[in-house]
Amino acid sequence: MRITISQIKEMKEKGEKITMLTAYDYATARIVDEVGIPMILVGDSLGMVVLGYESTIPVTIAEMLHHTKAVVRGTKNALIVGDMPFMTYHTSVDEALRNAARFIQEAGAQAIKLEGGVTVADKVKRIVECGIPVMGHLGLTPQSINQLGGYKVQGRTSQAAAKLLADAKALEEAGAFAVVLETVPAPLATLISQKIAIPTIGIGAGAGCDGQVQVIHDILGLSNRAPKHAKQYAKLTDIIKNAVSEYYSEVKAGSFPTDKQSFSMDESILAELKAK
Ligand code: KIV
Repeated sequence: MRITISQIKEMKEKGEKITMLTAYDYATARIVDEVGIPMILVGDSLGMVVLGYESTIPVTIAEMLHHTKAVVRGTKNALIVGDMPFMTYHTSVDEALRNAARFIQEAGAQAIKLEGGVTVADKVKRIVECGIPVMGHLGLTPQSINQLGGYKVQGRTSQAAAKLLADAKALEEAGAFAVVLETVPAPLATLISQKIAIPTIGIGAGAGCDGQVQVIHDILGLSNRAPKHAKQYAKLTDIIKNAVSEYYSEVKAGSFPTDKQSFSMDESILAELKAK
């Protein structure tokens, strides 16, 4: 049985920190699930860390569904949250609902995430009414990068901070089960976490959030970016480079494969063939 949104909400009530991590493929999702991480986000960050796009804006719903399906196949326990890509939930409540449903019905996710507060509250409300759990996303919302003018800290002015709090309240009111706070001053994120009853999941928003989310490539040392909010727990790029170099050298030198990696056959069949 997978973790439910009720269990995630209970974790906040009990003061238990919530851990969330992204995953985009079967093999990685299996590892994350085996560790016991309760929530996995199939983030549209896959556009940058997996597909090599400049931003999350080019990511399509077909790409998101493809990767969400792989993550679902690789997991048994985690709650899987599918990230709705740019312009798949903005034009109308109906379109938002139909696209959200695809993540649940076609890809097998248990919840969806979308960016924005007051402006998307009507969509959140309808999606939740139709039985689909929604996670909000406020602060640095990468799909609005052109409007925000870069990957900058959000909510530093009194007006921007008040707007963030109002957006968080609007999402709670609309029925969201949790909200991501990205690149927000830590004291503001702490205050928002105290003012709303649903869990806040921070990324670059300090330790006062109810939970934390990170992009797995950043914490494993696999991405070519090093955001200030990410800590590298491993240097997988170096490990992979060493392994690939060793393989390259051994193939060139003829020392791979050996008998250990090869298959034998009946000598008489070979002799027969040679005699022809
Ligand atoms: O796409 C993503 O990975 C995200 C997280 C950074 C929260 O939205």
